[in-house]
Amino acid sequence: MSTSAIHAGWSGGDMHGAVTPPIYATSAYAHPDHDSLKELFARRRSGFAYARSGNPTTAVLEQRLTALEGGIGAIAVASGQAATTIALCALLEPGSHVVASALLYGGTTEFLDDTLADLAVTTTTVDPWDLDAWERAITPSTRVVLVESIANPGAQLVDLDAISAIAHAHDVAVVVDATLSTPALYRAGDHGADVVVHSATKYLCGHGTTIAGIIVDTGRFDPRRCPQRWQRLTTRNRRFGVVFADDYERGASGLLSYARAKYVTDFGTTLPATSAQQILVGIETLDLRMRKISADAATLAGRLHGSAGIARVNHPSIPGRPDAHLVRRDFPHGTSGVFSVDLAGGEEAAAAFCNALELFTLAVNIGDARSLVCHPGTTTHSHLTEPQRRACGVHPGTVRLSIGLEDLEDLSADLERGLAAVEAVAPGTDRAAQEPALLS
Ligand SMILES: Cc1ncc(COP(=O)(O)O)c(C=O)c1O
Repeated sequence: MSTSAIHAGWSGGDMHGAVTPPIYATSAYAHPDHDSLKELFARRRSGFAYARSGNPTTAVLEQRLTALEGGIGAIAVASGQAATTIALCALLEPGSHVVASALLYGGTTEFLDDTLADLAVTTTTVDPWDLDAWERAITPSTRVVLVESIANPGAQLVDLDAISAIAHAHDVAVVVDATLSTPALYRAGDHGADVVVHSATKYLCGHGTTIAGIIVDTGRFDPRRCPQRWQRLTTRNRRFGVVFADDYERGASGLLSYARAKYVTDFGTTLPATSAQQILVGIETLDLRMRKISADAATLAGRLHGSAGIARVNHPSIPGRPDAHLVRRDFPHGTSGVFSVDLAGGEEAAAAFCNALELFTLAVNIGDARSLVCHPGTTTHSHLTEPQRRACGVHPGTVRLSIGLEDLEDLSADLERGLAAVEAVAPGTDRAAQEPALLS
């Protein structure tokens, strides 16, 4: 893992002997003759023509993620949201149905509920820990099940092997948002994922500098097994004149070729070369960072558990969590640095807590080297309905923490400061947070 994180996709070889991948700042690529460009556009050879569809720096990032996830290909795009959008657009068509975990990043839920609904794609959300619910929700129109490997913000883990087995029995593709786990903690393809998406903005970048996203084909999905179901891949494409599924014959991803030719090009969700380079630098230290951050987050969650003013700490290491067995089975190196706490005093207590912190930065991001805090109910999850928020485990008193790379004891002292401020405000009661969690 650590070796691939540094070497995969780049072994030097540019004209100056650059040790790290250079940033190719160019919009277009010169070709020696007429036939060269013609062959490229006819998809009879690979290469670069115009940077909306690809760039050599970005290609290094794609090869690196392919190696880290053990897949057959990847596409780097402008954001994590673009990665989810393009992966789903490539697999769905009007009339398709998605079965999605109720525990999804708010932006993903909004995309399913609003934009995809506009495009006549329907979604059923299920409790990800209820395996029968996944089975019951699948219909003949279902094309995708969608789940986060570690849910944001409550850090719930899923039994992806079991969910994938259910989906695959119905020829349904499994799409996993692995933003929180990253390949350093968990390779979703090893547990049945067909397609993995990442918000590379978070841990892959690791330093809060860059927005980026990645889609990886793990090599499990093969539309030729059920050609009627995936006709857009298995029949000749009118616009491009090729059968995208033929790419699988040479070990490449027909799904990603289709996604790049059509959606990355049409939506213009290109990742700039400068951004790709920032993510590549971040990935070099991913393994080290994820281990320290995960260990420190588990320690801090344990210290917060049972503190005055806290109704619940949402971290898989907390006693009684139904996903504890999954930590032992699937996450031996940790469960990332994101978790949430439900303050008993509701939004007022959450505001006091956030305002009192001096080291944690109040910001709507995760996966930075800096520790971050935010109030999901009024920010990341504010556009959801109240029942949707509750289903995600987001209550008025819920505060999300993203543990960074600072000294553990400094972070602990800062959290103590937050709890002292909570005690100082009139003790309200966040009834919602004190109810049993949806999933327990
Ligand atoms: C789990 C998860 N997936 C996807 C996204 C969207 O990523 P981006 O902000 O890079 O578009 C986020 C953003 O917070 C996220 O937390």
